Amino acid sequence: MDKIPFARPFIGVEEEDAVLRVLRSGWLTTGPEALAFETEFAAFLGGGTPQDVVPKDVASNAVVPKAFAVNSATSGLHLAVKAAGVGEGDVVLVPSLTFTATAEVVRYERADVAFVDVEKDGFLIDPEKLEATLARLRAGKTAYQDGGPRGRPRAVIPVHYGGLPCNMEEIMRVAQTYGIAVIEDAAHSFPSRLPNGEYAGCVGDVGVFSFYATKTLATGEGGMLVTRNEEIARQVSVLRSHGIDRPIFARYTDPKASWYYEVVEPGFKYNLPDVPAAIGRVQLRRANDLLAMRRNIARRYDEAFGGDDRFVLPPGGPSNAYHLYPLRIKPDALGLDRAAFIAALQEKGVGASVHFIPLHTMPYYRTRYNLRPKDFPETMRTYEHEVSLPIWPGMTEAMIERVVAAVLAG
Ligand SMILES: Cc1ncc(COP(=O)(O)O)c(C=O)c1O
Repeated sequence: MDKIPFARPFIGVEEEDAVLRVLRSGWLTTGPEALAFETEFAAFLGGGTPQDVVPKDVASNAVVPKAFAVNSATSGLHLAVKAAGVGEGDVVLVPSLTFTATAEVVRYERADVAFVDVEKDGFLIDPEKLEATLARLRAGKTAYQDGGPRGRPRAVIPVHYGGLPCNMEEIMRVAQTYGIAVIEDAAHSFPSRLPNGEYAGCVGDVGVFSFYATKTLATGEGGMLVTRNEEIARQVSVLRSHGIDRPIFARYTDPKASWYYEVVEPGFKYNLPDVPAAIGRVQLRRANDLLAMRRNIARRYDEAFGGDDRFVLPPGGPSNAYHLYPLRIKPDALGLDRAAFIAALQEKGVGASVHFIPLHTMPYYRTRYNLRPKDFPETMRTYEHEVSLPIWPGMTEAMIERVVAAVLAG
């Protein structure tokens, strides 16, 4: 029997045609496709898609964000951290339940990371604990009672885990109280909605989406930084292209553009080439269809596992982009621990994964900040019981049924 992979991108003839179009155009790096992708992505987030499946009550006069295509979300998060002015002596608050990219970009700029626990029985940064950590740092204390970094709190990076939007209303209130920047790690949340209808990733100072191969919009590698802040937009456009003070790609494509440019900062090479951008444009047009397919799978899982006291369903609803389906298991009721449960799924040909091994348990952060697993109890509880099931558009009915059967068999 064929294995059901944990993730698989949805690539059709349109994506293939788009790649060929770019290959035959004579222009392989960042150019017209990347530019069009940025404009179309911003329009989508600004509410410009007529085929939206989610009812929208965003104010119709909301400013369309500026979008910058980058070669990964990690690059985008790095640009966001830098544009927010984060540097040595600063502390950035990050959930421990995330991928290492969220925190590593803080260290790129020699600032320190203060981890924050997730909400009780949840996956998302706890605004109350965020506030408590900020209060300690503001008072000149270490981030935690027993240690951790000390320094000026400068930013928070909430992560919309698996497509579940964070409590942005509370996070924005806390951030405003403490005068810190909000950088939304929206790597999983294209497209997730907040209760007011706004897209996750568009509420803080900056939002960063990922187009990595397993993500909801997949271009292989890639990302998009969005912001409504003019000054951040200006800095990002310069930093993304080697610190050059003008859009450099025009000088190759526009015969009238000047050859002259100036370097105003030691920037980075973080631009997205046209081949992935062309794939992204097609995927963007499919976004609502792909979301509907993931929702259908989530609904099938919810129906199959809901009411079974061996499992805890992930929070669902129309706001969730469903990048992940993070089922939580109850090992005692199942008679299996998490590792044995995943091994049993694998034996039945069902791929599964775990999101995430908490960062505060990783050797680098554990040693640097002298952290113990129990320092973030809710994060550990979620991590120890979490199993991510396959949820990718293109899964057939038979595949969904096989996953359901494998999970129920334990
Ligand atoms: C929460 C989170 N943030 C950031 C990233 C980094 O994304 P990228 O691979 O596009 O750099 C990932 C990647 O998996 C992620 O899961």
